[in-house]
Amino acid sequence: MTKEGEPMESYEKLGVFYLGRAYDLAKKSVSDELILYDSRDLLTHAFCVGMTGSGKTGLCIALLEEAAIDGIPSIVIDPKGDLANLMLTFPGLSAPDFRPWINEDAASRDGVSPEAYAASQADLWRNGLATWGQSGERIERLRNAADFVIYTPGSEAGLPVSILGAFTAPSSEILGDKDLLNERVTTTATSLLGLLGIDADPIRSREHILIATILEYAWENGQDLDLASLIHAIQSPPISRVGVLELESFYPSKERFELATALNNLLASPGFETWLSGDPLDVDRLLYTGKGKPRVAIFYIAHLSDTERMFFVSLLFNQILGWVRTRPGTTSLRALVYMDEVFGFIPPVAEPPSKRPLLTLLKQARAYGVGVVLATQNPVDLDYKALSNIGTWFIGRLQTDRDRERLLDGLEGVTAGRAGAMSRQKMEETISALDKRVFLMHDIHENEPVVFQTRWAMSYLCGPLTRQQIKTLTEPVRAAGRAGEAPGGIDQRRAGEPADRTPSGGPARAAASRSPSGSARVPAFGSSSASPAASVTPRPVLPPEVSETFLPLRGSLENTALVYQPGLLAIANVRFVQARSGPEHTETVTVWSPLEEGVETVDWEKARPAVLAADDLQRQPAAGAEYGALSSRAMSAKNFAGWRRMLSDTLYRTRSVELLWSPRLKLASQPGENEREFRIRLGDTGREDRDYQVERLRKKHAMKFSALEDRIRRAEAAVERERGQAKQEQVQTAISFGATMLEAFLGRKRLGRSTLGRATTTARGVGRSAKQAQDIGRAEAQVQSLRQQLADLQAEFDAEAAKLGGRLDPEMEELEKLVLRPRKIDIDVKLLTLAWGPYRKTQDGSLASLWE
Ligand SMILES: Nc1ncnc2c1ncn2[C@@H]1O[C@H](COP(=O)(O)OP(=O)(O)O)[C@@H](O)[C@H]1O
Ligand SMILES: [Mg+2]
Repeated sequence: MTKEGEPMESYEKLGVFYLGRAYDLAKKSVSDELILYDSRDLLTHAFCVGMTGSGKTGLCIALLEEAAIDGIPSIVIDPKGDLANLMLTFPGLSAPDFRPWINEDAASRDGVSPEAYAASQADLWRNGLATWGQSGERIERLRNAADFVIYTPGSEAGLPVSILGAFTAPSSEILGDKDLLNERVTTTATSLLGLLGIDADPIRSREHILIATILEYAWENGQDLDLASLIHAIQSPPISRVGVLELESFYPSKERFELATALNNLLASPGFETWLSGDPLDVDRLLYTGKGKPRVAIFYIAHLSDTERMFFVSLLFNQILGWVRTRPGTTSLRALVYMDEVFGFIPPVAEPPSKRPLLTLLKQARAYGVGVVLATQNPVDLDYKALSNIGTWFIGRLQTDRDRERLLDGLEGVTAGRAGAMSRQKMEETISALDKRVFLMHDIHENEPVVFQTRWAMSYLCGPLTRQQIKTLTEPVRAAGRAGEAPGGIDQRRAGEPADRTPSGGPARAAASRSPSGSARVPAFGSSSASPAASVTPRPVLPPEVSETFLPLRGSLENTALVYQPGLLAIANVRFVQARSGPEHTETVTVWSPLEEGVETVDWEKARPAVLAADDLQRQPAAGAEYGALSSRAMSAKNFAGWRRMLSDTLYRTRSVELLWSPRLKLASQPGENEREFRIRLGDTGREDRDYQVERLRKKHAMKFSALEDRIRRAEAAVERERGQAKQEQVQTAISFGATMLEAFLGRKRLGRSTLGRATTTARGVGRSAKQAQDIGRAEAQVQSLRQQLADLQAEFDAEAAKLGGRLDPEMEELEKLVLRPRKIDIDVKLLTLAWGPYRKTQDGSLASLWE
């Protein structure tokens, strides 16, 4: 039995979200049956609908709290300001904690001092939480599980956020997908024009076509834009035609100038610079701290105008979509995107810029482990295509019969033909009877809908926060940021800058390799990059057994003389294997070492990294070049064999790769994956693992539980029958299996509860006899025995659940450093050739490399 105040750890371990308890609409009372929601059901997204005050925000805050406790980060879009309440968590639950956040008007209405009111609110929260089996400890756990931050785009009350990144060229995943790119281009153009007050049709509006063309052109060429460069591009576009029309006749420059001016005025308007400062809209950095801890990033947009909101929300959805596509697939929930009051952002007929990216998210995000949760007051606020992609419906109290009818129409449309669905009439009755904070949950992954009351929220739900309050909440983060270490803040790094890709934090980027194997230790390669001016001779003639190549010219000659310097180019594969974990990595080393006249031995340790592949080597030199003097040793093929052996030797001695190793998960970081990325991946993998174990546990017990439940019902019916007083209703309501963890955990996923409910009994109106007394005794014994079996099954489940490792805290997970070194046989020199490196003769007579 789960009693009040009992620790909640048991189901937290199972990755199920505690949303509330079953609610009896007839009795208007909550039962002790826990409503536990399988987090993976959120992969098919959720929709929360109900009139103002029905408790939507309270429910969704509870959902976000549960996710955070499970280490799942969220992006929260908060148009009204009450999601910022997620910041108000007080493990001490004391009056002074509540004091700054109470509604002072409410206090004076009640005729009490603010202090007294705060004390009563603290009591209300403590008692409320206790009634739902929660305490300050759980609040503490929530606070520790994630970093909570508030962003205020266009304002400095919370953390500012820079939208500049929205115009930078998207990732290769998006560039490589025509539809996605098109979507990104269209949304960016539409939302930008929206900000200018231009309601642009992507197909007919000249403004839209022009801006979209410019964006697409720049991005496809790998160019980033910002507003200033966009303004320039509008005035002098990089294209001369649009479709088949000359640019000037399609959109004359005088008129383009007007558009450019409008954008420029926006850019110059007071306050606009706040849109351009602060953390970039980099979703990876929004979801995890620099150390890989999950975050709950709340975007407070209550202060923005409608057009600004639309602009920002569209950009954010676009960024999320771009990020989602860079993640590997998963079957576990990895992140949540929540939007409160989604009215107007994904409407049925209109096409605001937010609609397409949000629809695409609903269609595609599940494969990448991202769940979308949307809340709104009215069922018709959402496009039908959106609704049909949503698996969980939380239906709260609705205002009018018409709202209820429309909701049922929508629900019927998406659930038609599904087994276990309630009849429309039953649904209608249920929905009409819903109370405040009572929801009907329809989850396509469960067999039947359930009515429940939401649990008490851990966050103090004081209503929308003001900008001043947001400022107060953000002060500590800001202060920490000034001190150089924002606890939740994004690293000071700007968008687009590469992350430090070395696990140890050591020197990044091993340029010696073509593959970005950043974690490879960089030996002394590159220490002698300045070449002395050498004596110049004509191109030597080589014996036929010596192969000769030319490195490609990378720089500009700048009207100076070209000189080829002799050298050796080597390409080798070095394999790193680790017997214990089996991580394996092959690094390609490409180096060039000078081979000038008088050089006797080649020092491979001092060779310089070359970024090229064998295919890039040229057979012929550029015309008109001079040549440095070649060592005579290059004339004999035999020497090449020696140099090859020396290279193998050097690589064997100097090459190593450093990886991080998680002993618990038996996983190693990949070369090029930094500690933060690795920890985030460990968190994801740990959760996937856990979900797999939990699923096994569920499967194992579900059948047994259903079967026992069924047998108990029959046995109890038999007892009633023997007693000769069988009345079907009585039998049915009399049977309760108690509110065990197992029952709550299996939820409505277990087989056929509704069919079991129909176990029929027939009355046998016979008098009692000795024989019958005996029969009653036997039937009762049978019930006893079955109940014992059920208790055993529950105990077995509890024991197995307790054995589950629980959530892995990626931030705290202990990691070991692994250094992998190659064995001799793991080194394979693919190519060793004489290679002329191009140089440019500078003013002072020294040589500057044209190939590096
Ligand atoms: N889970 C909850 N725990 C505690 N109080 C709640 C909860 N849900 C709702 N409430 C109370 O009810 C009020 C209205 O609920 P809210 O969730 O804001 O409704 P909605 O978002 O549907 O308009 C909240 O301000 C809060 O006082
Ligand atoms: Mg609300």
